[in-house]
Amino acid sequence: MKVLVTGGCGFLGFHVCEYFRRQGAEVIAYDNLAKHEFARNPYMRAAARDHNRNCLEQMGVRIAIADVRDKAALVAHARGCDYLCHTAAQPAMTISWEDPELDFTTNTLGTFHVLEAAQRREFRLRFARASMPMARMRSMPR
Ligand SMILES: NC(=O)c1ccc[n+]([C@@H]2O[C@H](COP(=O)([O-])OP(=O)(O)OC[C@H]3O[C@@H](n4cnc5c(N)ncnc54)[C@H](O)[C@@H]3O)[C@@H](O)[C@H]2O)c1
Repeated sequence: MKVLVTGGCGFLGFHVCEYFRRQGAEVIAYDNLAKHEFARNPYMRAAARDHNRNCLEQMGVRIAIADVRDKAALVAHARGCDYLCHTAAQPAMTISWEDPELDFTTNTLGTFHVLEAAQRREFRLRFARASMPMARMRSMPR
């Protein structure tokens, strides 16, 4: 089994990578190692993302430093995978106000690229639901 985890070096993505690695899967953490939020939040440390990356590498997870806004790179890395788990995000509300283009391209365009990659590869797709949903969904897409 081969799994691509976008945002694999982030909080949620790290645990998804760890879970699949423990199942014996080949795992790729696809992450641009963005650190925008760390500059603003005294409770978060940029070193945490590097720590996650180092731990994943020690577990045998391959790190692909790449961006979900780069559709060609995403589709290329998705080749041969069985699952794609999408957790890459710009999750900080403050940054969404300061830099709406960064927020939109990461969260909306990035997710669109993931859906396109999944459709091309006929993937089973799982994604982390937004922590601040704008609307109640009647059902989750498969
Ligand atoms: N943390 C929670 O408790 C929680 C709960 C519910 C939902 N969520 C949602 O899950 C998602 C991930 O949350 P998190 O807490 O793991 O965030 P996080 O910031 O810890 O992780 C996001 C990861 O995405 C990467 N990333 C950012 N922009 C990227 C890009 N353009 N291309 C590739 N990688 C990029 C970052 O480098 C980071 O490693 C968000 O949508 C969040 O709203 C989080």
